[in-house]
Amino acid sequence: MEQTGGKTQDELIDELADLIVQSQRLVVFTGAGISTESGLPDFRGPDGLWTKFDPDDFTYQKFISDRETRKRIWGMSEALGASWKDFQPNPAHYAVAELEKLGKLDCVITQNVDGLHQKAGNSEDKVIQLHGNMQWVKCLSCGDRHRFEEVEKWVAGGVEVPECVQCGGILKPDAVFFGEAMPVQETMEAERRSRMCDLCIVIGSSLVVYPAALMPQYALSSGAKIAIINEGETGLDHAADIRIWAKAGEVMSQVVQQVKKRLGID
Ligand code: APR
Repeated sequence: MEQTGGKTQDELIDELADLIVQSQRLVVFTGAGISTESGLPDFRGPDGLWTKFDPDDFTYQKFISDRETRKRIWGMSEALGASWKDFQPNPAHYAVAELEKLGKLDCVITQNVDGLHQKAGNSEDKVIQLHGNMQWVKCLSCGDRHRFEEVEKWVAGGVEVPECVQCGGILKPDAVFFGEAMPVQETMEAERRSRMCDLCIVIGSSLVVYPAALMPQYALSSGAKIAIINEGETGLDHAADIRIWAKAGEVMSQVVQQVKKRLGID
């Protein structure tokens, strides 16, 4: 796919670095594509999760109504051959964390539940998780909470479908399933920050899942510049000021390098 306006990738990286240096309120919006270089599958890419699992299993209704579905979901770590805590940030996450250190980041709005932005060094209060997280598990009846890896140990020890030790209720990871309401505070704050930003950089998202995909559109409608770094097509390609079809890790490392050069930081 041709880069924006026939420009080379390096020219676009330079342009994006200029926009970041000039920006007063930069919002970074990320999807699963920023974590594939950490070994996590995305959803709709060529080897995406939806080529291995049935997205229907990830609907809230099915999870709470069908024990076999809960068994499949809890068995995913084994199927993926790794536990969430084993995944590490990649250069793209570190580049976004570096933008915060340089004082150039208003916030990261992420659809991801892997916690890798925080692991890379972004402050908790700078990361808005629209789709929850896989670090915590909650009882849907009494609200009792456990760290995900603690419950994962029960599953590894032979418990097929973990239940609440307090009340026997259904235990569910904090990630937002299809058909489940998104966290209200996070969604409202993400919209507010998107509408206030002057630059929105989309990294690794197909922008097809709503209402999350509205955030870059709020930025656009409020007059912000839009940059998209994504290997595949997205729902906002037509409106991007800068569109780079390349790997997030490679591009974002070069972008931050150029920003530091412009700020006179080696
Ligand atoms: N660099 C750049 N782009 C990449 C990379 C990479 N290393 N790896 C994958 N991509 C691109 C893919 O081509 C794809 O276009 O990232 C995009 C990821 O899109 P999706 O798989 O649709 O993921 P996402 O946009 O985060 O999905 C949104 O859908 O299933 C739900 O709740 C789930 O949060 C998820 C939401």
